[in-house]
Amino acid sequence: MKVEALPAIKGNYNLQDYEETYKTFDWKETEKSFSWSETGKVNMAYEAIDRHAESFRKNKIALYYRNDSRKEKYTFKELKELTNKAGNVLKSYGDVEKGDRVFIFMPRSPEFYFAALGAIKLGAIVGPLFEAFMEGAVKDRLEDSEAKVLVTTPDLLYRVPVDQLPALKTIFIVGTDVEEDGKYVDFLKHLEDAPSSLDIEWVDRNDGLILHYTSGSTGKPKGVLHVHNAMIQHYQTAKWVLDLQEEDIYWCTADPGWVTGTSYGMFGPWLTGTSNVIIGGRFSPDAWYKTIEEFGVTVWYSAPTSFRMLMGAGDEVIKKYNLSTLRHILSVGEPLNPEVIRWGRKVFNHRIHDTWWMTETGAHLICNYPSMEIKPGSMGKPIPGVEAAIVDDQGNVLPPNRMGNLAIKRGWPSMMHTIWNNQAKYDSYFFPNGWYVSGDSAYMDEDGYFWFQGRVDDVIMTAGERVGPFEVESKLLEHPAVAEAGVIGKPDPVRGEIIKAFVALMDGYEESDELKEDIRQFVKKGFAAHAAPREIEFRDKLPKTRSGKIMRRVLKAWELDLPVGDLSTMED
Ligand code: WTA
Repeated sequence: MKVEALPAIKGNYNLQDYEETYKTFDWKETEKSFSWSETGKVNMAYEAIDRHAESFRKNKIALYYRNDSRKEKYTFKELKELTNKAGNVLKSYGDVEKGDRVFIFMPRSPEFYFAALGAIKLGAIVGPLFEAFMEGAVKDRLEDSEAKVLVTTPDLLYRVPVDQLPALKTIFIVGTDVEEDGKYVDFLKHLEDAPSSLDIEWVDRNDGLILHYTSGSTGKPKGVLHVHNAMIQHYQTAKWVLDLQEEDIYWCTADPGWVTGTSYGMFGPWLTGTSNVIIGGRFSPDAWYKTIEEFGVTVWYSAPTSFRMLMGAGDEVIKKYNLSTLRHILSVGEPLNPEVIRWGRKVFNHRIHDTWWMTETGAHLICNYPSMEIKPGSMGKPIPGVEAAIVDDQGNVLPPNRMGNLAIKRGWPSMMHTIWNNQAKYDSYFFPNGWYVSGDSAYMDEDGYFWFQGRVDDVIMTAGERVGPFEVESKLLEHPAVAEAGVIGKPDPVRGEIIKAFVALMDGYEESDELKEDIRQFVKKGFAAHAAPREIEFRDKLPKTRSGKIMRRVLKAWELDLPVGDLSTMED
C-alpha cells in the first residue's frame, strides 16, 4: 500500500520525532504532571475541574452546551461549584459513599456532567447509560452492578423496573415539578439549595471510577471497570493525539453512554483544561455544521458512520457554513475508509485522523498523530508507552504483513481494572505471556502501521456502536412467534454493518411483513433502538452445532454468498 502524498499538519505539542519519543518515553513522565504523584491522593474530578478552577483558567469556559431548547456555558469555577453541589445532593439524599455505583440514565445535558463528576468527587463509581436503552438493557446493567443510586429524567423513568432492583435505594429525578416520594428525590431542587463546597474523597489510583457495559459475542453485557489511574493516559493522549492546546474549542460527538463520550468527551479535554462543546439532540448535517460554525470548533472527534452520513448529504450544505476554524479532525469506532479521508481533505481541507482503541483499553492505543504521515485505511501506529503486535492463536508474535490477532502488551495506564463480578472473564483477555487480545484481526506493515481487518468474534459494529449478537438473539427469542434466532452484521456502505436477523418461526405463525415489523419493534421497545435488526429473514430452520449453538458464520456465508466452510460440527 503506498503512502499518499498529503500535507502534514504539525501539531505543536506532539511527537515531532515519533521514533525517538517511542524509544525513550515512560508513563512516569506523564504522572509527574499531577500533584498526586507525590501525595498519592487522587481524584479524577479534582484533576479535571477543580485544579483549573484554582488556576489562571478559573474563568475560562469549560463547557458549552446547546440542544433544541437550551444554550448555556459554564466556566471551570462554575463547574467546580456545581459538581460540589451535585456531590452534596447525592451524599445527603442518596447516602452515596466511596465505591457505591451511581448510574446516570439521561440525555446529554449539563446535569449529566454535574451528577457524574459530583459522584466521582465522593469516590463513587459512575455508570453512564445511553438514553436509548429500553427496560431490558437498563435492568441488566443496574442488576449486575447492584447500583445504589440512579439519576434519570421523568421521561425515562418508565424504563426502569424499580421493583425488580432491590439494591436500588434512591432515584434522583432531573425535571420540573418532581413529586418527592420515598425513593424519589428532586435533583434540581436540592442542587439549588446545596452548599457549593465539598470535601473531596481522595482515593487510591486503582479505585473504581467508571463502569462501562459493553458487548461481547456471548453472554450478557459485561461491566468494564476503569480506575482513576486511567487519567495518566487520558491526559497524555488528549495532548498527543487530540493535540489539544490552550485556545482550542473541542467537540466530541460521542454520547457519554459510550466510552468515547467519557474518556474523550469529559476526562481528556477537561484534564487538559480545554473548552469542551457538548450538543444534545439529534444528528443532522445542518445542525452539525452549524455547531462547528457557532462555537468555532477547532478540534473535532467523531466516527466513520457520521462522516459517511455527512458525505452522503453532499457538499452543497457545507458551503452554507463557515468551518474555517477547524484545524484537526479525528475518528474512532470503525474502519475509516480512504474515501472518507479523501472527502475530508477536499471539503474541510484536513485529513481525518483515525484512532483505534476499545472500551476495555480505556484510551487511545494505535493512532494517527497530527505530526505523522497518514496511510489512508490504516489505524496508524501505537502511541509511545504502548507495545502492539500481531500474534497467532498461541500468543506468538507474527512478522509484518501477516494477519492475526491484534494484541497489546499488558501495562498501559488506562487498562480496565476488572470485569465487574467476573474476574475470570477479565483473565480470559490475556495470553500467559502478557499479551492482551483485542478480538480484532489486523496486520502490521513493514513501516509499523496497523491495518484493521475485522472482528475475530461475531461482535457487530453498527453505526459505531458495539452490539453483541447474543443479546439481540435473546431478545428475539422472547417474542412469541420466534422459535430460533441468529444475528449477524451485514456490511453496509454508511453504517459499516447493519444488524440482520435470521428467524425460524414457531408452529402456527405465518411469515409476513407485518410480523417482521412487529418483531423489529419488539426488540426496539424492549431492548434498544440501535440493536433492533434492520433486516429480518425467515428460514424454516437455522444452522446449529450439535450442542445447539447457532452457527453465525454459516448465516454470514449465506448472506454474503461465501463458501460455508467446515460443517463437521453441524447437526444433521
Ligand atoms: C472497533 C470504541 C477499526 C474494533 C472506542 C474494536 C475500530 C471495537 C476502530 C471497540 C478503528 C474501534 N478502526 N475498528 N479506528 N476503533 N474499532 O469498545 O473492532 O465500542 O475492537 O470502543 O471497535 O469498540 P468499543
